[in-house]
Amino acid sequence: MFAHRLPSGAELRPLEPWQGPEFAEHLDRAREHIRPWVGPSFVTTGVEAATATLTRYATSTAADGARIYGIWSEGALVGGVMFVAFDAARGSAELGCWLEPAAQGRGLVSEACRALVRWAFETRGIRRIEWRCRAANARSGAVAQRLGMTLEGTLRQSWPIDGVFDDTQIWALLATEWRTPGT
Ligand SMILES: CC(C)(COP(=O)(O)OP(=O)(O)OC[C@H]1O[C@@H](n2cnc3c(N)ncnc32)[C@H](O)[C@@H]1OP(=O)(O)O)[C@@H](O)C(=O)NCCC(=O)NCCS
Repeated sequence: MFAHRLPSGAELRPLEPWQGPEFAEHLDRAREHIRPWVGPSFVTTGVEAATATLTRYATSTAADGARIYGIWSEGALVGGVMFVAFDAARGSAELGCWLEPAAQGRGLVSEACRALVRWAFETRGIRRIEWRCRAANARSGAVAQRLGMTLEGTLRQSWPIDGVFDDTQIWALLATEWRTPGT
């Protein structure tokens, strides 16, 4: 019902439990592409599990915590962005994102993240936004860089994947560093 139009013309909208069937269909297109790079609990199969993910987010959003938004391009759900964590009292939040393969390379996630960053800093008074990704995830690190984030450190051997451990990069952006593009 409520949509935020991104500069590319794509739309950012809340992604809610009633959209479980659409989210499940999207995950069928995205699953193998995102599996190596996101938390395992996000990579579900079927409507029930997809709806459960959205219900967890909805419950958290009701307590002013984590929240999730879908990106629709030409009417199709192609990916999304989320506050994996959101803590207004501490002034900190963590961003996450994903896209189905066909939606990569168009700036959609960078645009969507900027909308969330702007809201967190300018409307909610958040002070610090983090971004955590596998060190091998070059496309994710590139988004963090595009957002103006600083690579603050690397947690060595902290991301379990296929029986081994990859390093985790921690990027962050402070409200004092944030400049709305074009201003
Ligand atoms: C991480 C992920 C969302 C990044 O997708 P992406 O398409 O590279 O990122 P964006 O949507 O910001 O698009 C940037 C690309 O679009 C291009 N682009 C085109 N128009 C653009 C615009 N207006 N603004 C910014 N970039 C634009 C950029 O040049 C860049 O392409 P390039 O990498 O080929 O140079 C995607 O790779 C993905 O889903 N990976 C699997 C899941 C994942 O890793 N999630 C994050 C876990 S930490």
